[in-house]
Amino acid sequence: MNTIWSECVQGAKTLYYSRKLRFGDLFAEQFKKLLKLDGRRKLKILEIGCGPGALAGELRRWYPKADICGLDRDSNFINFARAHEEGINFIEGDATALPFNDDTFDVTISYTVSEHIEPDKFYGEQLRVLKQGGTCIVLSTRKTVYVNAPCLDEQESERIFWEKVKNCDDTMEKYGIGRYHMSEAELPAAMEKYGFKNIETGFAAVALTPDNPQIPEELACNMINEQRQTALDALSSVMNSMPGQITAAEVEEMVGITNKKYDARIAQYIRGEKQWDTAVSVIMSVRGTK
Ligand SMILES: C[S@@+](CC[C@H](N)C(=O)[O-])C[C@H]1O[C@@H](n2cnc3c(N)ncnc32)[C@H](O)[C@@H]1O
Repeated sequence: MNTIWSECVQGAKTLYYSRKLRFGDLFAEQFKKLLKLDGRRKLKILEIGCGPGALAGELRRWYPKADICGLDRDSNFINFARAHEEGINFIEGDATALPFNDDTFDVTISYTVSEHIEPDKFYGEQLRVLKQGGTCIVLSTRKTVYVNAPCLDEQESERIFWEKVKNCDDTMEKYGIGRYHMSEAELPAAMEKYGFKNIETGFAAVALTPDNPQIPEELACNMINEQRQTALDALSSVMNSMPGQITAAEVEEMVGITNKKYDARIAQYIRGEKQWDTAVSVIMSVRGTK
């Protein structure tokens, strides 16, 4: 049983709800264009490092004929995925030793995973389990532009807290988070180096701007609350990964400040006071065939 990611890096709710927004209905068409998969076929799709299952769930809605399997080594994520997404086979397993026979899948796909896994194993295993002519798709967020509403700006006590965390947090090194990060040019070159052909790249932009008039109220509040959840999960990861260095009282104070700020943002939204805060993510796809 492995629960490192969900307890010390990003919680299940953070990943699930942020991905639900990024891959939600507003942006589905551009992702389908990027993925270029034939929805008329009964594709066997494997999502590697599926986390709590949000992208797998969208893939199932985008390609209802497909047979989808999601794999992650974090047991909390797999349990969460099984409870939140239907019709998908979620498996606890290691991407560096995939529990599947050679030539099993038509498509392998991953989102924000390649940077955490040794590339020889990451690509080698996908090449092995893909059928001849099968497609490997690597998705990754390259940059995010954040513009805060003033009420969400970092307060002095938060700045001091996060400075202290930065000084004693070794989670990233300890668990190899982001160890294999590659540039926009290195990613397609790596896919080719590890044996894939017909490599191509593409980009999509996802802009989450609650004040835009075409965003319904419920979705706008989800956008604001997703950021709140990310901030709260970051605090509980700190508690889990640095016991003894950060006290429960310090975290509790930060939780209080966080909730107050996001309650204020929701209240502004409800009153119609536009803030134009936004989070724009540039997502890259790299695609190759076996
Ligand atoms: C940044 S998270 C992304 C999760 C998911 N793709 C999403 O976007 O919600 C990276 C994921 O890779 C998983 N992971 C890292 N190394 C892995 C490995 N060797 N085998 C399987 N999963 C792995 C982690 O458990 C985590 O769920």
